[in-house]
Amino acid sequence: MESKRKLIFVCGGSDCIKSGSKTLRKKIREEIKSKELRGQCKLIKTKCMDYCKSAPVVIIGEFVCKKATIENVLHQIKKS
Ligand code: FES
Repeated sequence: MESKRKLIFVCGGSDCIKSGSKTLRKKIREEIKSKELRGQCKLIKTKCMDYCKSAPVVIIGEFVCKKATIENVLHQIKKS
């Protein structure tokens, strides 16, 4: 059975951490707990995904969000 929840992978590798992925992950977590997105997404922390030059990196479904910000991550979550 296929999960209906959107999977959001946030890199927790050292380059992404230096570029603020920890803060970004906290913001995403807060947003997906909000009324609008509650129960629709699952947040997963990953190891380095080999896109270090574009840190921080977030993958939403099949979309790779490079130099991710909370705005473009939310835009992509709502779009997908
Ligand atoms: S540290 Fe995030 S892609 Fe390498």
